Amino acid sequence: MFERKTYAHVFDQYTVTTLNKLESDGYIGQLFGALGSGKESYVFYSVDAQEREVAVKIHRHSIYSFKKIPEYLKLRGKSSGGFLKRIDDWMKYEFTLQTKAFSIGLKVSEPYRVYNNVMVMKFIGKDGLAAPLAVFSKGFAVDKWYNAIISDIIQMGKVGIIHGDLSAYNILDFNGEPYLIDFSQALKLSSSTKSFLLRDVNNINQWFLRLKYRDILSAEEVEARIGKSL
Ligand SMILES: Nc1ncnc2c1ncn2[C@@H]1O[C@H](COP(=O)(O)OP(=O)(O)OP(=O)(O)O)[C@@H](O)[C@H]1O
Ligand SMILES: [Mg+2]
Repeated sequence: MFERKTYAHVFDQYTVTTLNKLESDGYIGQLFGALGSGKESYVFYSVDAQEREVAVKIHRHSIYSFKKIPEYLKLRGKSSGGFLKRIDDWMKYEFTLQTKAFSIGLKVSEPYRVYNNVMVMKFIGKDGLAAPLAVFSKGFAVDKWYNAIISDIIQMGKVGIIHGDLSAYNILDFNGEPYLIDFSQALKLSSSTKSFLLRDVNNINQWFLRLKYRDILSAEEVEARIGKSL
């Protein structure tokens, strides 16, 4: 059990109860060293009851998220419920769109379970050692990576989703391949969210131009390859 005395200084009671449930259902074990702690979430390493290595992402119940949430939930097509419900919906949406990306065969962490403000997914790494973020990677095949990432964007677009926050900070270098993580700002593709698709492509293009890669596709070309009239 996750003792309140151990976690109370980090997590609220709602989160502790959620973690206890996930543990008793076998989705997580003890939480180990933080893999990341952004403004809105913590990510921990754990091993589940089947001995699978998992990453456990916990959305904070923070004021910061609360400010951003109404605008996002509007784009996501719903805005009802209280604060906790909105955070939980936010996490559920992330889980649903990441599951969609995984289901079409993209290299993303396989989502295993979402419950309240916690999501459990496959750990990208081995023996407790997480794959490095692309921004800290010691070197990857620039040409191969650009094409793989643009192809991911196009394939997601074809099934109607946008990652929404693509950058060298949300891509892991695992066995020399780019793995997309952090679908917390993912959206369904529509005329009102198209600008986020274009922003993702432009961010990736800027990054690869800095790496001296020149054979880039414009955002308009990517949109044309997705082939939806938006
Ligand atoms: N499946 C995973 N396997 C290994 N490491 C992971 C995994 N998911 C996340 N991480 C690590 O945790 C860090 C934070 O994860 P993520 O980017 O999803 O959260 P965040 O940036 O804090 O999210 P948010 O934008 O919601 O605040 C990542 O930079 C990465 O190092
Ligand atoms: Mg991130």
